[in-house]
This record gives sequence, structure tokens and C-alpha cells, in this order.
Amino acid sequence: MTSLAARWGIHPGQFWLYGRPPEHAVRYDEEMDAWNVYGHAEVLEALSLPGVFSSAETARLMPDNAEDAFTEGDLLQMDPPDHRWLRNVVSHAFTPKVVADLEPRITRLARELLDAVAGAEEFDLMTALAYPLPVTVVAELLGIPAADQHLFEGWMTGVVGEMGGTSLADSAEEQERAFGAAMEHMRAMLGYLREHIAECRRGPRDDLLGGLLAAELNGRRLSDEHIVGFAKMLLIAGYLSTTMLIGNTMLCLDHFPDQMARVRADRALVPGLVEESLRYLSPVAATYRATAAEVRLAGRRIPAGKMVLVWFGAANRDARVFADPMAFDPARTPNPQLGFGRGIHFCLGAPLARMEGRVALNELFDRYSEIHADPDKPPTFMQAPDTTGVTSLPIRVRPC
Ligand code: HEM
Repeated sequence: MTSLAARWGIHPGQFWLYGRPPEHAVRYDEEMDAWNVYGHAEVLEALSLPGVFSSAETARLMPDNAEDAFTEGDLLQMDPPDHRWLRNVVSHAFTPKVVADLEPRITRLARELLDAVAGAEEFDLMTALAYPLPVTVVAELLGIPAADQHLFEGWMTGVVGEMGGTSLADSAEEQERAFGAAMEHMRAMLGYLREHIAECRRGPRDDLLGGLLAAELNGRRLSDEHIVGFAKMLLIAGYLSTTMLIGNTMLCLDHFPDQMARVRADRALVPGLVEESLRYLSPVAATYRATAAEVRLAGRRIPAGKMVLVWFGAANRDARVFADPMAFDPARTPNPQLGFGRGIHFCLGAPLARMEGRVALNELFDRYSEIHADPDKPPTFMQAPDTTGVTSLPIRVRPC
């Protein structure tokens, strides 16, 4: 059977999606002067050593115009002890209770979005549901007015469009140009967030931003810049990855129709379906670390000061951990997929993303007895080599 990646032409850099496992668990790429970690055990080991595989150090290895303002308050670019402090402050916003309380609202939103395409037999799943649902959820979490939410979609599309077209293998000039253009969008977004936060300081509020403004831990308050950086990170981390999760899952089910029938017949499999989708097409295919000291991994010596690409997507196809890794099985047990990362940076929004995925998929199954990718309009994919996800997915549906 043709692999899903070959059928639709997913980024060839992610060769494991085509059924070709990496030759080595850890490999140095001379052209990029960067190290790649592919194996499941090796990814876990690297992520368990945040002092050596540093998140904060990655900013130093990025092109010059990645400014400090861009990283402040961004958990993903922080190391302990600062990371621990900020994560403790913000984690109250993502407790199981907070997430459970959001479910009725998210269900309503998904229904409204699908109501808007009621009667249509063909539409783009991404435009109709997978883009607007997560961006609205994050914007509402941050208390951003609904009327401004399209601005975020525009800025985020701009950032992803610029960064998605480049890779570490490109020339330094090309990388800098793409960074510069992406920063323009980012600056506009940060400017908006700054104004919004100043506005929030004028009165008490009971949303996430209000909580962050009031938060104090060990006698320290969050500065406005911390909050701006955190809000920006939430939009980046919480939006497109969830968009891709929804689209990727439907693409997988289209490719494996037996599994579509199985999940429809037994909805208790939907949470497992979300896990298997994250394993099979991991939206965040890789993350970046930089070595703060020399370290040995899988018998290789990695010098200090090197960029390391930690490939969740490859680890999720590691045959040492996942039997028959090219099979798509919503009932896979256990399924230690690494789509949400691991260690101290494990995705803070994982319970929220899982719930959004579950709600969106159940709504689709409730409404349509058949859902297929439109054979005449192939899906398109994120261009960035470190993400795996559809950007458009035209579908044909038959209402129940
Ligand atoms: C971190 C994936 C949805 C908030 C991460 C990391 C991954 C990830 C792989 C770790 C990155 C690293 O170690 O460098 C995903 C995927 C999602 C998703 C695949 C959707 C399917 C969300 C949502 C939110 C969110 C909905 C919040 C609204 C965060 C935050 C972090 C994070 C705050 C940083 C945690 C830290 O550094 O301590 N995510 N994420 N994510 N994610 Fe998610």
C-alpha cells in the first residue's frame, strides 16, 4: 500500500514518514552544522537533561535579529530556574478543571462553525473548522475581543509563511531575510498584545490575563514583557498545532477507511485516535535545543554550542518502541507517542488540545456519515520541515 506521505507528497525531509527509518539514532549534519536526534530512547534522554540540551541557548544560535523581546516570557526558550518559576505561575490556567469547564463552550463553537457550512457537500475542513476553532479558543483564553481575532490569524499565517519557506540548510542571508520578515508580523502582534495588556491593567478581570497580571510567586510579579511574551507563545503553541491535529486526523482516517469505520462504530476509541494521530503525523515534528556543554548521546560526542534538532516525528515511528510503526491503529496500547514533547517542557496545553481534537472529531462524526478527502483537490501541507500538517484539506461529505 502506498504510504500516506507518498500519496500526498509530504515534505521529503521527513523520510521516516515514507517507511524509511533513520540509519542512526543520532546523526551529525555537516551542511547544517547541527545534530539530529531520531530515536525514541535518545529523544527521551536528551529531553531529560535540560541543563545540557538547553532551550535558552538556542536563541544564541539563531540569526542576529532574533531579539530579546522575542524570547522573554516564552517558556519554550527558557531553562530552569526561570522556566520552573514561570511554569508554576501559569500552570493554574491549564488545570484539568479549567479545561473541563471550557468543553461546553468549545462544543458550541465547533457546532456554530459547522452550522455555517451546513448543506454544503464539499468544503475545506481547515477553513471551516480547523483554523477558526483553536484560534478562537486561545484568543478567548487571553480575553482578546472576537472582532480582533482575524488579526491574529493574519499575523500567524505571516510568521508561519515566512519561517515555513526556510530551513537551517538555507544560506545565512536567506535565513536572516525570512527571520526579518517573520519578525515584522511578530512585532505587529506584540504591539497589539502590549496595548491589550495595558488595557487589562486598568481593571480587574477573571480571565487568564487577569490571573497572570495578579500572579505572584516567591515575591515576584510578572512584568508586562513577560506577559506579552507568554501570550505570544500561547498563540503560536496553541493555535496551528491544534489546527494541524484536526486536519491530520481526518487525513489519516481518509487513508485508512477501515479505521474510520472502526472509530465510528466505537466512539470510545476517539481519545486513542487523537493519540495515534499525534504519533502518525506529529504536528510539532521537531524541537530545537543547543548544547550548553559537551555530551555523549547514543555513543556520539556532541560538542558544546551546537544546535540539536530533536525529532518527535521520527521517534514516533521508532520500531524499537512501536510495533508495525507504519500501521495506523487508534487502539494502540501502550502508545508512548511524543507529539506533546517530554520532560520539563511537556506541552502545557496537552489536555486542552486533546479535548479540542476529541470535540471537533465527534462533531464531524455526528454530522456526516461519510467524509473523504476530495480526490480532485489534493490537500496542501505546511512547508516548514519541522512541522507536519495539512494547511488545506478539501473534503466531500454526506450528511447523516
Ligand atoms: C509545549 C506540542 C497544543 C501550549 C509544547 C511542546 C510540544 C507541543 C511538542 C514541547 C516543545 C519543546 O519541548 O520544545 C503541541 C501539540 C499541540 C499543542 C502537538 C496540539 C495538538 C497546545 C495548546 C496550548 C499549548 C492548545 C495552549 C493553549 C504549550 C505551552 C508549551 C507547549 C505553553 C511550553 C511548555 C514549556 O515550555 O514548559 N507543545 N502543543 N500547546 N505547548 Fe503545546
